[in-house]
Amino acid sequence: MSEARIPLISGNWKMHKNHFEAIQAVQKLHYRLGDAEVEDVVVTVHPPFTDLRSVQTLIESDRMDIVLGAQDCYWETEGAFTGEVSPTMLAKLDVAYVIVGHSERRQLFGETDESVNRKAVAVLAAGMTPIVCCGETLEEREAGDAESKVEGQIRAGLAGLSSAQVAGLVVAYEPIWAIGTGRTATSEDAQAMCAHIRSVVADGWSADAAASLRVQYGGSVKPGNIAELMSQADIDGALVGGASLEPDEFAAIVQFRQH
Ligand code: PGA
Repeated sequence: MSEARIPLISGNWKMHKNHFEAIQAVQKLHYRLGDAEVEDVVVTVHPPFTDLRSVQTLIESDRMDIVLGAQDCYWETEGAFTGEVSPTMLAKLDVAYVIVGHSERRQLFGETDESVNRKAVAVLAAGMTPIVCCGETLEEREAGDAESKVEGQIRAGLAGLSSAQVAGLVVAYEPIWAIGTGRTATSEDAQAMCAHIRSVVADGWSADAAASLRVQYGGSVKPGNIAELMSQADIDGALVGGASLEPDEFAAIVQFRQH
């Protein structure tokens, strides 16, 4: 792993926890982590929009080593877009990482590679880091199309970005069949796809971008499988759904080196 690729462990809370519950969860997470244990790992939490201001205030007042993230955003800065939240609004709340193109957004809310691309561009323009999600369905994997599906998502999702921009962002590889199912990709399969993502970036952008880009694995990550996933050469972190809702479990994932 290159020097720059500090492990990034992200908790995607999805549509869970109101702002009171969010405050409690982050306090508990902070307590469980202590200060020493989060050295050399960047920990992000991605609560629902309505919780962001409360969590921001808590992180700031207690100087927590936890970084604030969001789950989505729109690509315009402001305007007549009822129900949407802009990247600049998130940046103003000290949000540093924004998940873009999660498979639930693609499957349930019509997100396309084109909208993912516009969002990634807008998140970068607002000074934040996009976590661009990709991943195949079970049918695509069984048909032998997993690699081409992910390659297409990467090429289209990152289209028009400079090599320097790609070098600084995060790609989350989340096989759809592993999300919330308790079924994890084997560490070999996850590693193979993360290496493939890096080779697509090397081909489409540059070797430097491929070496610096952080690649997360996501899909039923738990305290029991994180250490093996993190031991893979091309896996730099994890995007954690269900297990991030419980601070004890999420802290155990962050402390993967102690397993
Ligand atoms: P999961 O979700 O950890 O509950 O499988 C992962 C994700 O959707 O980011």
